[in-house]
Amino acid sequence: MTPPPALTLQALHKRFGSTEVVCGLDLCVQAGERVALIGPNGAGKSTVFNLISGHARPSAGTVELHGRSIHGMKPFAIARLGLARSFQISKVFPQLSVYENLRCSVLWSLGYGYSFVRLVGSLRDATARTDTLIEGLGLAAQAQTLAAHLPYAQQRALELGITLGSGADVLLLDEPTAGMNRSEAAHFTALIRRLTEGKTLLLVEHDMAVVADLADKIAVLVQGRIIAFGTPQAVRADPAVQAAYLGAVV
Ligand SMILES: Nc1ncnc2c1ncn2[C@@H]1O[C@H](COP(=O)(O)OP(=O)(O)OP(=O)(O)O)[C@@H](O)[C@H]1O
Ligand SMILES: [Mg+2]
Repeated sequence: MTPPPALTLQALHKRFGSTEVVCGLDLCVQAGERVALIGPNGAGKSTVFNLISGHARPSAGTVELHGRSIHGMKPFAIARLGLARSFQISKVFPQLSVYENLRCSVLWSLGYGYSFVRLVGSLRDATARTDTLIEGLGLAAQAQTLAAHLPYAQQRALELGITLGSGADVLLLDEPTAGMNRSEAAHFTALIRRLTEGKTLLLVEHDMAVVADLADKIAVLVQGRIIAFGTPQAVRADPAVQAAYLGAVV
């Protein structure tokens, strides 16, 4: 039997007062696929992420994770089902060290937020997972540095690590390379590619070099609607996309 898609959004709507920001959006992301959600500022990209991750409730429509409805569920409950997200604005615990930030994320995902009574073996697992993560991120030398004292690009790497620390298999990354210079963005893109191998990725990104490097498919969101969805070549050739972007971006 073929597995259900990792993410299925159907007839999704979101209104803020009288303004409709997401207007009947359908999107299907297969397990293991890497999809870039692109679109102009204010198109509704972060709102779509909020609707998927449970940080906002749809006005109408459905969201399924691996074929299971997650409608109305709280973010932590959705995270428990294997979905993790990063935010457009970096969110780390500034007064904790790099190691503590990552360990918190790993422990939380193993259920330590709910119970102190755990097997020591699981704690060892958590330590091993934190060590692997910090090595993979290239932050081992900064393990004891307070997150607040990290340079910006490393803070974003730490945030990626916190997102990955949950062990989620579906990841939403909102503008992961925003604010980075060209070489930082290229380095970070390679890091994302390596650390998310085999996982399902939905990525909001304005930098088309990053999109080209990471995405198998592109979904173009304009005024709350997906106007094109397909391979980068197909999307680039789509007249509706060229009209929306005046041929300049994709
Ligand atoms: N909580 C809210 N209340 C009212 N309006 C909102 C709220 N959140 C977002 N909006 C509006 O919804 C629209 C879409 O916002 P959103 O942040 O989803 O866009 P975006 O595509 O992520 O843009 P950007 O590329 O600038 O990050 C914007 O007009 C924004 O002002
Ligand atoms: Mg946004």
